Amino acid sequence: MTGSWMMNVVVGLFSLLALTGLFFFVLTRGALLVRGLSSAQNSAKSHVYPLYSNMRLIKLVDFQPVIAAILLFQYSTLVSKIVAGLGERNLKNKKVLVTSCAFGNVIPRVVEAAVQAGAEQVVIADIIGNELEHARGKLGQFEGRITYVEDNATAMTCQPGLADANIMFFLLHELPHPLKIKALSEAGRMLAPGGKLYLAEFHRPELPVLRLLSWAYFKVFEPFGLALWDSHDPVNCLTEMGGWTCERSTYFFGNFQVITATKH
Ligand SMILES: C[S@@+](CC[C@H](N)C(=O)[O-])C[C@H]1O[C@@H](n2cnc3c(N)ncnc32)[C@H](O)[C@@H]1O
Repeated sequence: MTGSWMMNVVVGLFSLLALTGLFFFVLTRGALLVRGLSSAQNSAKSHVYPLYSNMRLIKLVDFQPVIAAILLFQYSTLVSKIVAGLGERNLKNKKVLVTSCAFGNVIPRVVEAAVQAGAEQVVIADIIGNELEHARGKLGQFEGRITYVEDNATAMTCQPGLADANIMFFLLHELPHPLKIKALSEAGRMLAPGGKLYLAEFHRPELPVLRLLSWAYFKVFEPFGLALWDSHDPVNCLTEMGGWTCERSTYFFGNFQVITATKH
């Protein structure tokens, strides 16, 4: 009796996990595969998952515990590192740029830190209008200090050198490889000399078992992400570009990283 009850629990949990995986696959990699077969593949937005463009899906998924779980409960630690970096700066009369929205409370926390550090304005740029609208819904108390811009991180139309801090939170791993380099280059172009780029991303885990699991995750869900481990390691890319000094902190057995890159 106890055995069959246990079995039901195991089967139930496994089914839940499989269904969750299927849900995310369909709305991320699966959609990109289907899109790749159609003519829509050449648009600047064609790498963006439906999860980020459909307002109902955005609202359905943007639930802090789910988002924290996806980042193995390191979300808050990673955001805190960026917030602490902003807190050390004097951003009085300066502008802060957030290059692309993200789920969870990263944007409110970053905006609050920027405003407390004296920033006169925060510019939030995203290629998807619905993401900007969704972010606005979290930022009511900062209305008037924020400008929302529909812009492409890989070909920004904002004024070059506008920002003293630029935050890029888990964008790179979703971009095709040549666009990763463009996004980093554009991030630098948007910064004033001495400005800092705060970049949170996945990193090659030190623990072999975690590396294997992480590798499988990328292979199934986020095929553009694995290159961050080697050929498109952001610190190497920025160093090769020149004009940057980079500091990297890693988290959770090396599975995540926050890079603070200062533009010369
Ligand atoms: C930063 S990434 C994902 C972050 C992470 N997975 C999370 O939400 O916790 C998602 C955002 O990047 C935006 N995005 C994707 N490609 C972009 C691009 N080329 N330029 C600007 N925003 C982009 C999407 O519209 C979406 O708002």
